[in-house]
Amino acid sequence: MQRSVLSPLRRAVAGSAGGGKGAPLSAAASRPFASASEPQPQGEDVGSFPFARPKGYEPPAEFARLRRECPVARARLFEGSPIWLITKPRELQQVLVDNRFSKVRTHPGFPELAPGAKAAVEGREASYVDMDPPEHTRYRAIFEPFFDAEAAQVEELIDGMQRRGPGADGGVDLAEAFSLPLAFRVIYEMLGIPFEDYEFLSSNVAVRASGSSTARDAAAAQQQLQEYMEGLVAAKEAKPTDDVLSKVIRSHLVAGNATVASMINLGLLSLLEHPDQLEALKGDPSLLPCAVREICRYHTASAYALRRMALEDVKVGDVTVKAGEGLIALNQSANRGEEAFPDPDAFDIRHSPNPQVGYGYGTHLCVAMPLAMAELECAFGGLLRRLPTIKLAVAPDQLQWSDPKADVGLTGLPVTW
Ligand code: HEM
Repeated sequence: MQRSVLSPLRRAVAGSAGGGKGAPLSAAASRPFASASEPQPQGEDVGSFPFARPKGYEPPAEFARLRRECPVARARLFEGSPIWLITKPRELQQVLVDNRFSKVRTHPGFPELAPGAKAAVEGREASYVDMDPPEHTRYRAIFEPFFDAEAAQVEELIDGMQRRGPGADGGVDLAEAFSLPLAFRVIYEMLGIPFEDYEFLSSNVAVRASGSSTARDAAAAQQQLQEYMEGLVAAKEAKPTDDVLSKVIRSHLVAGNATVASMINLGLLSLLEHPDQLEALKGDPSLLPCAVREICRYHTASAYALRRMALEDVKVGDVTVKAGEGLIALNQSANRGEEAFPDPDAFDIRHSPNPQVGYGYGTHLCVAMPLAMAELECAFGGLLRRLPTIKLAVAPDQLQWSDPKADVGLTGLPVTW
């Protein structure tokens, strides 16, 4: 196991209850996951999961059908193991506030989406993200205040874009020139990471996070990041400073950067697709907070994170999820839930109230939501004010999308102005 950067902090917050692996499991919950061959009388079995998006950013078509016909449904993961899919807002919220559902990924039945994920989890110390209350609650209270910051890097990045100009025929890739550097800079500044290290870190993070990297390249990139963070933490411990890195966990380095960048790209695309709303936003920046909430509802950039395992039998909708069984609360589906949003497939920046669940809900609600929202408001506000003629530099059908079964995202967004 790696040397723990958390140890001093862990000692500081660890009380008598909890323990590193979350609450103890009941005998029933520690049973292996119900096998694929066991009869499963309840809930329709909808086959293998994840489903594919039909095109572009459209959510999988199965979601709307399941919300209508079977809001708690059975599906199979890559190795054939069963999982419950929760597709409606009410059931999603019920599950995510109920501490009988665990986030501790070392439980035998915890649902993983890719081969090798279980082994990777077992080999490293859990961050608080993957703990249950009460231990999770203590760590979270420490980190929460750090994420309530304003983004201040927008103007500088747009200065750079303007200096370089709107590009020739192919335009400028917004993802590369703006969205990704903004997401990284905000976090690196917050963590006290020297900015000269940006290129090294962002290229390794990109390899580690990309679904198209080989397992070997991803592992090598992970190792590089790990060593970098260990070195940085060791230097900080030798010479403590008052920045967050001296107190924070390494998982924050990679969490959320790609998601923020993705939301900028997808949000700008949707605004360009709705010129009337784009003009309204340019004319009235007070609409920005509402527009950002709608962007985060319409495009759910983190759609597979809300995985849990039942510690005891729990009724969800018409179904009893048994102890030891895994589920995934599908926030991409709940964000289009008919009972929460009238006309859910329409993009409307004036949508209010907007109980979007793009950042999750309940116990593990994204701790950085205030930061991410502020960052997105600054990003769209800055882009529309400073580059008011911004438009796509290629035909929409030439845009390249992420794997249809992975989180929704654009591989680049060529723009000009
Ligand atoms: C638009 C951008 C973002 C989206 C859509 C997003 C989405 C999410 C979601 C859905 C969860 C819930 C996971 C669960 O319940 O299992 C989550 C949790 C979390 N996110 Fe974000 N996130 C974003 C930005 C960020 C950023 C910028 C950071 C950090 C720098 C971050 C750090 C975290 C952490 C640490 C948690 C775990 C909180 C806990 O377990 O209490 N996120 N995020």
